Amino acid sequence: LKHLLTVEALTDQEVMGLIRRGQEFKNGAKWTPEKEQYFATNLFFENSTRTHKSFDVAEKKLGIEVIEFDASTSSVQKGETLYDTVLTMSALGVDVAVIRHGDENYYDDLIQSKTIQCGIINGGDGSGQHPTQCLLDLMTIYEEFGRFEGLKVAIVGDITHSRVAKSNMQMLKRLGAEVFFSGPAQWYDEEFEVYGHYLPLDELVGEVDVMMMLRVQHERHDGNESFSKEEYHQQYGLTVGRAKKMKEGAIIMHPAPVNRDVELADSLVEGYQARIIQQMTNGVFVRMAILEAVLAGRA
Ligand code: CP
Repeated sequence: LKHLLTVEALTDQEVMGLIRRGQEFKNGAKWTPEKEQYFATNLFFENSTRTHKSFDVAEKKLGIEVIEFDASTSSVQKGETLYDTVLTMSALGVDVAVIRHGDENYYDDLIQSKTIQCGIINGGDGSGQHPTQCLLDLMTIYEEFGRFEGLKVAIVGDITHSRVAKSNMQMLKRLGAEVFFSGPAQWYDEEFEVYGHYLPLDELVGEVDVMMMLRVQHERHDGNESFSKEEYHQQYGLTVGRAKKMKEGAIIMHPAPVNRDVELADSLVEGYQARIIQQMTNGVFVRMAILEAVLAGRA
């Protein structure tokens, strides 16, 4: 891979290759780098714990030198643009930049540049896509079921604002899963119908293999939500009562951070049906696979 910007740019073979390589890294496989020294930088212009820190861990596990960057103490504060920040990192010899930015498709002019030489991995672009989260979610589902074909997956909640949902609905459908949606009508868009059908949560909960709950993204709302946290939980959340109706072997996923007792009941977060901790752990290993693939593509 030259860059990883969206999941739809990947072939099914590339997706499965990254998942399987993530599993190999989880089982102790080692990377054989082509160069003696690689540099990576993680440029986060939006808040992050999991994506940022799991890339840090993945890079360190691979032996890549991580060039620290903090937007709040960088020359971004003097008005330097994203383009010029990445140009600088490239000029310093950075091989790969992981970037999270609030603008959708922020990467367009970076990858068209003749001067910027480093690989770009999209760590989330506004409400656009979150391809590395998608790959760790797919790895977690594959680890659980060993297939995608025929699985029923419900994506529930704040779908309109979720880059995770947009990446996942496309790939899950392409890989043969049956996708369903649920949640507040105001956070659902008819354009999602090409990937799956919208149903009331109580009709879905006993039918699906995966309940993928999404975070309510308050930071992307205008403050006019028409329900309280308690109302949201009762109408659209995975309550303890609803979780009891899930099929045997069905799992709960959430990209996190979780708003406990909103998207799902506090007691379910670390419960036997949840795979939220596995998602975070798998994030390190699938990101090792992504870094390896991008660095190999630039060798
Ligand atoms: N799931 C996810 O992207 O979490 P962070 O925002 O903490 O990176």
